[in-house]
Amino acid sequence: MTIVDQIIDLLSNHGGDLYFGEQVTEAEHALQCAHLASQSGAEPNIVAAALLHDIGHLLHGLGENIANHNIDGKHEDVGSVWLQGHFPQLILDCVRLHVDAKRYLTATEPGYLEDLSLASKKSLELQGGPFSPQEITEFEANEPFYKEAVQIRRWDDEAKVVGLKVPPVERYRELLESVVISK
Ligand SMILES: [Fe+2]
Ligand SMILES: [Fe+2]
Repeated sequence: MTIVDQIIDLLSNHGGDLYFGEQVTEAEHALQCAHLASQSGAEPNIVAAALLHDIGHLLHGLGENIANHNIDGKHEDVGSVWLQGHFPQLILDCVRLHVDAKRYLTATEPGYLEDLSLASKKSLELQGGPFSPQEITEFEANEPFYKEAVQIRRWDDEAKVVGLKVPPVERYRELLESVVISK
């Protein structure tokens, strides 16, 4: 199977667990996130990153509700490492940084933390909480794609609408093929 086949298989057949204490499944969350990116006119790399940002949840086998067991599965690293070699750095970094982007936004944007869902607030604690001033500076200085990661984070936070109809994963096959660097 090519990497794109594997991604489509994961989201089609293994994305049925509820997403991290929310009322949508992992697959619904990924597809809503990609759809929001696509609707905003984002370039294919960004749409792909939105689709793939939580792929680590489908890979590490810990399933749903890991925050409730006080385990930080580091799904952002699991996902990014799995995609390495197949997708450009922008996508890998957006996947790897989507948790840090939440920590960044909670520290820099008034009201952001309050608006997070309960599950997202809960996982934030395990993920280290809001960035310190030094972490903010380092994030901006050391991560060339931090703005893209922050943008994806905003769609990530919105992509939890129960029952929302969005295009299926097959609709992203061509887009994924267009950004892949090695099958
Ligand atoms: Fe995530
Ligand atoms: Fe997510």
